[in-house]
Amino acid sequence: MPTEMISFLAQLARSPRAVGAIAPSGVPLAERITATIPRTGEPLVVELGPGTGAFTRVIQRRLGGQGRHLALEINATFADRLAREHPGVDVLQADAGNLASLLTERNLPRAEAIVSGLPWAVFTAQRQREILSAVVAALADDGAFTTFAYQHARWAPPARRLHRTLRELFEEVVVGGTVWANLPPAVVYHCRRPVRQPLVEQPGTSRPARHPSPVRPLNVPQPAQS
Ligand SMILES: C[S@@+](CC[C@H](N)C(=O)[O-])C[C@H]1O[C@@H](n2cnc3c(N)ncnc32)[C@H](O)[C@@H]1O
Repeated sequence: MPTEMISFLAQLARSPRAVGAIAPSGVPLAERITATIPRTGEPLVVELGPGTGAFTRVIQRRLGGQGRHLALEINATFADRLAREHPGVDVLQADAGNLASLLTERNLPRAEAIVSGLPWAVFTAQRQREILSAVVAALADDGAFTTFAYQHARWAPPARRLHRTLRELFEEVVVGGTVWANLPPAVVYHCRRPVRQPLVEQPGTSRPARHPSPVRPLNVPQPAQS
């Protein structure tokens, strides 16, 4: 069994609710979800929940050494592995809900592309909204946010809620065809034109979330000590 699969299954056994999938995504899904990443210029690309790097490899290939690739992964083992295997990726062991404040703290602009591998189906409604509000705050006006849901769970309440919230927070949400060559098959949501102020504000959820979880930078140049 490849080490990627062993690492994934080990973390799945340790924290099933945070990993939220039975296997890493396959190449066809990775190609579909990263299709919005610019191949020219110096884009800032943010990846949420990279896990063992199924999307990371394709993002790196598309960037071809240009721009900047920032990956936020909450799991320490996955974050260490990713930083080791992808020295060109700025890896933060951090909660995706802190994305907007992390960009501000690092004087980074809004991202041209945000790609999510997060397990939306295991998040509560409030958690989904917190993270999506942080995505909206962190995405450039002409940027693109892409994420996925598993086909078999598409009509279950968490996935329907995700779709509803996406339509509230983005002017354009396009659902791609099913990627059958994935385990399990998945659908990709392509979201553009973020709506900065949610049309219907939920109490306590209108600002980007700040989670008290620690942030651990890997591969990220640190400011010189004086
Ligand atoms: C379903 S796996 C997907 C991994 C990879 N993107 C793929 O498609 O194979 C979900 C990943 O999201 C990470 N994750 C879960 N909650 C997170 C959070 N709040 N912030 C950052 N990463 C999170 C998990 O640790 C796991 O690596």
